[in-house]
Amino acid sequence: MTSSPVDPTTSGAWQALSELAEGFAPDLRAWFAEDEGRADRYTFQAADLTVDLSKNLVTEEVLGHLLEIARTVDVAGRYRAMISGEHINVTEDRAVLHTALRRPSGDDLTPAAPLTVDGQDVDHDVHEVLDRIATFASAVRDGSWTGVTGKRVETVVNIGIGGSDLGPVMVYEALKPYVQAGLTARFVSNIDPSDIYEKTADLDPETTLFIVASKTFGTLETLTNARLAREWLWKGLSQAGAIEDTDESRRDAVSKHFVAVSTALDKVEAFGIDPTNAFGFWDWVGGRYSVDSAIGTSVAIAIGPDGFADFLAGFHAVDEHMRTAPLEANVPVLMGLLNVWYSNFLGAQSHAVLPYAQYLHRFPAYLQQLTMESNGKSVRWDGTPVVTDTGEVFWGEPGTNGQHAFYQLIHQGTRLIPADFIATANPAHPLQDGDTDVHALFLANFFAQTKALAFGKTADEVRAEGTAEAVVPARTFSGNRPTTSILAPRLTPSVVGQLIALYEHITFVEGTVWGIDSFDQWGVELGKQLALQIAPAVQGDADALASQDPSTKSLIAKYLELRE
Ligand code: F6P
Repeated sequence: MTSSPVDPTTSGAWQALSELAEGFAPDLRAWFAEDEGRADRYTFQAADLTVDLSKNLVTEEVLGHLLEIARTVDVAGRYRAMISGEHINVTEDRAVLHTALRRPSGDDLTPAAPLTVDGQDVDHDVHEVLDRIATFASAVRDGSWTGVTGKRVETVVNIGIGGSDLGPVMVYEALKPYVQAGLTARFVSNIDPSDIYEKTADLDPETTLFIVASKTFGTLETLTNARLAREWLWKGLSQAGAIEDTDESRRDAVSKHFVAVSTALDKVEAFGIDPTNAFGFWDWVGGRYSVDSAIGTSVAIAIGPDGFADFLAGFHAVDEHMRTAPLEANVPVLMGLLNVWYSNFLGAQSHAVLPYAQYLHRFPAYLQQLTMESNGKSVRWDGTPVVTDTGEVFWGEPGTNGQHAFYQLIHQGTRLIPADFIATANPAHPLQDGDTDVHALFLANFFAQTKALAFGKTADEVRAEGTAEAVVPARTFSGNRPTTSILAPRLTPSVVGQLIALYEHITFVEGTVWGIDSFDQWGVELGKQLALQIAPAVQGDADALASQDPSTKSLIAKYLELRE
């Protein structure tokens, strides 16, 4: 899609929404009282996800204009362009095909199979790698893959950062109940040496398998940690008398304890990892869209090939919903448009994601990269400046913990913070506290919070409780604080895939309205370049230090002075 983006701000719908936003006085109490069908009308289904949008600050009029904007910028057409392999990542001249990673194999696949893009038989290549991962994962799980001393793998350590870490760790944590007994995974990402130190300190090298996950295989943090891990392995094995002090012996150890995931298989080999122990993917998979590629190998080992297939099927179910549901009932489209309403018209700057599922505790962190690396842009895909604000700040923590921390600001603060509440009807561990079903008690909070945020508590209601007049204002809740409730039957691999795909497509919808390339991330490059340039200065190179700006120079000088 090299054509210029449509400017939605000049459309009649955008103008109409601007006028509506001025003096907009939402009244969820009245809207529900006057419209018995509101809850039903604004509740939608996407695969297993029931999504209630009725507590959003939206009327039929607002929604009509938002949908008109979606038509103006042709969200549906751009989605078709994406899934058919057009180079919609224009600044890198690449197709954007994460949806192809979860297309099932088979003849009756829709949209049409096989998918051939830039001369590549995508379906064939995706399934070839998936089959190799399944074989490898099974071998690790059944003990036929062993370390160099013949012991089976007990701990998988994924070394990666950004999309090569956040997705795998989030999904591993989310699916802990599905992890094979006797296997655990750990995730090293930070170049702060404390990270790898803590994650390996109590491990036995003989039963540890490292997965070096890096799309580019050029990321400083990951390669540094991979080298540290290799040293740790060699040292531990030689102290145990398990390997000899020869290159060949060390190579054997690496071949049994290191695998790699990358698009750059030549660099994998140069690092010393046997290419037969490497799983590839392709430049049309963005890092933050890659947990369903070979980047998810740690997850495939932990939950098994069948669980991983179920995970991918969940993504595909939501992809199909996105592709086929009419705009008016299309959940990612509606949620993306609501975000546009809040951030471009009602002044919201952030968006909370509040999972009522402890296993989803890394989901907000995962979404931060997905949404903010994708949509934190100031120019559109043709290089022209954006015409409106882009990219909300996504954040969150699991409920109920957040309730006892920052919800105060959401309930009574001065800022508008739209919030997504996510829960599952069934717990992984149904525990009772006497006669009380603890998961039901937990979900009472999920329902109560969205109710309190929507309907608040009037001053008269506070007074009616006998509250002293002086504290009535402090105990009054304005209500009309927007929330979306997402309810799934259970946190299965499929449901986790569905949730990820939902937010991928919400991100896509917002990016399309804003006319931006949601698939590049040039904004992270400058810092990386400067870190390389500054590295000699912090190691004491006087010339490198002298060439820094005054503030950086004096900070580094202070650091050198403090260093023991
Ligand atoms: O620095 C940002 C980034 O490029 C992310 O987009 C990516 O997920 C991460 O770095 C890691 O990159 P790689 O997988 O190539 O090591």
